[in-house]
Amino acid sequence: MTSMTKAELTKSFFDTFGPGEAPRCFFAGGRVNLIGEYVDFNGGHVLPCALTMGTWGLLRRRADNRLRFFSLNFPQAGVLEGTLSDIRYQERNQWTNYVLGMLFALGERGIELPSGFELLIYGNIPNGAGLSSSASLEVVTGAALRACYGLDVTNVELALLGQRTENGFIGLNSGIMDQFSIALGKEDAAVFLNTGTLSYEHVPVELGDNVILIMNTCKRRSLSDSKYNERRAECEGALKDLKKVLPVKDLASVDLRTFEENKHLIESDVDRARAEHVVYECARTVEACKKLRAGDLISFGRLMNASHDSLRDLFAVSCRELDILVAEAQKCPGVLGARMTGAGFGGCAVAIVNRDAVDGVCARVGRAYEEAVGYPCAFYVAAIGGGPKEL
Ligand code: GLA
Repeated sequence: MTSMTKAELTKSFFDTFGPGEAPRCFFAGGRVNLIGEYVDFNGGHVLPCALTMGTWGLLRRRADNRLRFFSLNFPQAGVLEGTLSDIRYQERNQWTNYVLGMLFALGERGIELPSGFELLIYGNIPNGAGLSSSASLEVVTGAALRACYGLDVTNVELALLGQRTENGFIGLNSGIMDQFSIALGKEDAAVFLNTGTLSYEHVPVELGDNVILIMNTCKRRSLSDSKYNERRAECEGALKDLKKVLPVKDLASVDLRTFEENKHLIESDVDRARAEHVVYECARTVEACKKLRAGDLISFGRLMNASHDSLRDLFAVSCRELDILVAEAQKCPGVLGARMTGAGFGGCAVAIVNRDAVDGVCARVGRAYEEAVGYPCAFYVAAIGGGPKEL
């Protein structure tokens, strides 16, 4: 997870693509969600933070319409080639699809680039860890294209283009949380976003003697895309049943009481459980944001714990590895709360931990995890970064 300097990246760029004009260098972070999971396609509030770990993109325009891509994370793949006139999903060239997807999404809006480019990518977000390395790649690509081609695109639009890449090009029916928190991130603040209206506020993350500890299962998320789309469909099923009687536009607009009085309308037990998670998680997130503003981290931590229980039992997106990390962390003195974060099925958990307890927590959780799972997990103390920038 090492950072690279602009000078080192520029040197790699020239080594890869040859001499000439210097590339421009951009950065976008990853994200960690504090609370508000699986509510961003249901119109709910989320409370994620952008991270200082993220993705660097160095871009140089070409005179012709060729596209040339290289990632320092996948050097064995070599330089991957394409042309502006042929933007389609490439099964083989995995990571470049997020870049091509941004060109596709821009194209849908009638924005065509006048010429191709060379793009070198480097990221220090662990891959497949559920810290949004793909959204980070989308946003850094968008920010680089915007600057280098003078595109008239706001940061909110960058986020929407990233989501469109996932939905329309990659085939993941994700919500807007990841791209939005990265594109609109602010140092030392969480993004309290209403995903129904896209109105948002930056909420200072003032944790006093505590830190945000990310715990990585180091289990690659597998099958997560199909499960993700399945969960979204289940939420839609529940909403459809409720709509037969209730005039609601999304699950987030169903309050707890209305839900309890009407949940029998949801025919499938599975869909009902999914909806119950969403309705209660929406309420928890609004509540958690209040607690954060009030500096009541004890209550904030309890809400995180409740969020995990619900994601495990009702929404069924946790896994054994995440449950072990979370349960072990919750047992440790100095841990205020812990939960899985992101899409689940592997990836990371997040905890609020007293600074002085961090080493002890990592040792104890790490030991228990390796004993139970057979391989080690990893820990990072999160630093909250800002939005995309040029270096
Ligand atoms: C993934 C998606 C987000 C969100 C989370 C779950 O990260 O990309 O849109 O749905 O899962 O909260």
